[in-house]
Order: sequence, then C-alpha cells, then structure tokens
Amino acid sequence: MSQPVHLDEGISCPICRQGLRLQQGLARPARLSCPDLHAFDAAKQGYFNLLTGKGTSFREDGSAMVAARAAFLDAGHYAPFAQSISTALAASLSGVASPRILDAGAGTGYYLGQLLAALPASATAVALDISKFAMRRAAKIPSTLALVWDLWRDLPLEDAAFDGLINVFSPHNGAEFARVLRPGGSALVITPLPEHLMDGAELLGLLAIAEDKAAGVIESMGENFALKHTSEIRVPLILSPKEAFELAMMGPAGHHADPQRLRERVENHGEQIKLTAAFRIQEFTRN
Ligand SMILES: C[S@@+](CC[C@H](N)C(=O)[O-])C[C@H]1O[C@@H](n2cnc3c(N)ncnc32)[C@H](O)[C@@H]1O
Ligand SMILES: [Zn+2]
Repeated sequence: MSQPVHLDEGISCPICRQGLRLQQGLARPARLSCPDLHAFDAAKQGYFNLLTGKGTSFREDGSAMVAARAAFLDAGHYAPFAQSISTALAASLSGVASPRILDAGAGTGYYLGQLLAALPASATAVALDISKFAMRRAAKIPSTLALVWDLWRDLPLEDAAFDGLINVFSPHNGAEFARVLRPGGSALVITPLPEHLMDGAELLGLLAIAEDKAAGVIESMGENFALKHTSEIRVPLILSPKEAFELAMMGPAGHHADPQRLRERVENHGEQIKLTAAFRIQEFTRN
C-alpha cells in the first residue's frame, strides 16, 4: 500500500525548485510556501498563480471563452469523450492505490473531474493552465490543486511525481511531461481529427485544421514516451443556436471571432445545427 497523497505533494517552488507545501492552520485563503519562504497565496476563488515576474506572451483563454467552454461541456455534449479518456486512464492505473494525476492545459477541468470520479477516492490531481479564468473553475474540482502556469516553461512540479497525465486540446511539452511522470506512468494526449466540426466550419467561423496532428504529437512527446494505443472517437451533435455559439466561442475562434456576428449567423441558421465532433486519443507510456 502506498502512503496517502497530499494535494501539495510533488509541487515545487518556481523560484528555488524546493518543495512548495500548503501551510496548515491558516485561515483561508491558503498559502503555498517553500523552505526559503517564497510564498504564493491562493486567489479568493481557490487557485494559485505561480507565474512570477512579468506576464507571459502566450494568449490565455479569456473570461467569455472559458464561460462558453464551461456551459458547453457541463451540458454533457462531450461526455462520450470524457468517458473514453476516463476508461483508458483508469485501466492503465488500475494497480495504483492513490493515483496522482496531472491535467496539463486543464481549462475548466471538465475532463479531469470526470476522470477523478472514475478513479479511487484517494486519487488527487494538479490542474495546470495559463488562464486564471479557467483555473477559477478547476479549483472547485474535489481533490485538485489548480495552478496558473505556462506549459512552455519548466513545470513547478517534481520529477516522477505523477502516475498519469491528460493533455486535452492543449500544448504538449513532451520533455517536461516525461520529467514529471514516473517510469511506467501513462499520458493521454487528445487532439482533434482533421474532420473535427468541419461540417460546421463556415457557420461557426472555425479555423480549418491544416493537417493531421498524430505524427506531430508523437514527435513532440519525444523519445521518453512509447505510443501504446490510438483510438478515434466521433460524436454526432445536434445543437441549438445558443449551444453552437458556445462551441464556437470556446475554441480558437473565440480569440478573434466577433461574438455579435457569430450569434446572428447561428440564429439565422435554424433551430437545429448538426455537426460531428471527432477526437483522437493517443496513449503513451513513460519509458
Ligand atoms: C482548447 S482549450 C482546452 C482546455 C481543456 N483541456 C478542455 O478540453 O476543456 C486549451 C487550453 O490551453 C490553455 N493554454 C494555452 N496555452 C497555454 C500555455 N502556454 N500554458 C498553459 N496553458 C495554455 C488555454 O488557456 C486553454 O485553457
Ligand atoms: Zn522557493
């Protein structure tokens, strides 16, 4: 039997790399601090922003995008994807008593919440995303520490601290994923198939997905990972104009679409908008 895992296990100080630990016995908001007394206080919504110094040049998902993502996902349209992710990772981690999970680019934490519900109750997680609007929501997921961080920087996480990792529609930093996952651990990378939502591309103002991402994912995960399994999932969607608007706003189009024009276009389209969502799950094992 492994020891009980604490929420702050495997978190490291972004300044000095020593362990960051949750300070006990403080009135809320909680604080993470290291032996050198670098300290990070939780925002009132419960997440920790570990990014220090001047901001990053990466563009975070803004408040409207994150609200659209939360509404769309919470309505259950992508539940079959979440189910597939949970089933695959739970199977890989079936021998682990208290799995420790990293969701890299967690967004609102929808997939992570579903996954934790499928794992033993002692499982714990770190949700990491550059968007504080996303981390406000992810901080509400039970047994989860939500950290604002940039996936392209060295992660504020200790070596081999995690048993499993999910990376859903988010940047993949293979070198850092390999460092923080223990040997034998599992990483699931989920990317859109080339035809994902393409039947509604024009209506929703979506960017075309230029090429198939499968080979690029394998390359970016690097030589420390072996591809164990690949699956493809297609889910037919029948959406109201409001739901189609949320779907467009939560994706890359949310960064540049004119919300008013988008809303008019979907409302003029009719009551039902039929689309097909199509994801690929690539399951890797850490060598
Ligand atoms: C398409 S969303 C997917 C979110 C979530 N996994 C889901 O599927 O609902 C991409 C996420 O990646 C985050 N992101 C983009 N660049 C990032 C970076 N450099 N570091 C951390 N997160 C980043 C965005 O803020 C956004 O939440
Ligand atoms: Zn420190």
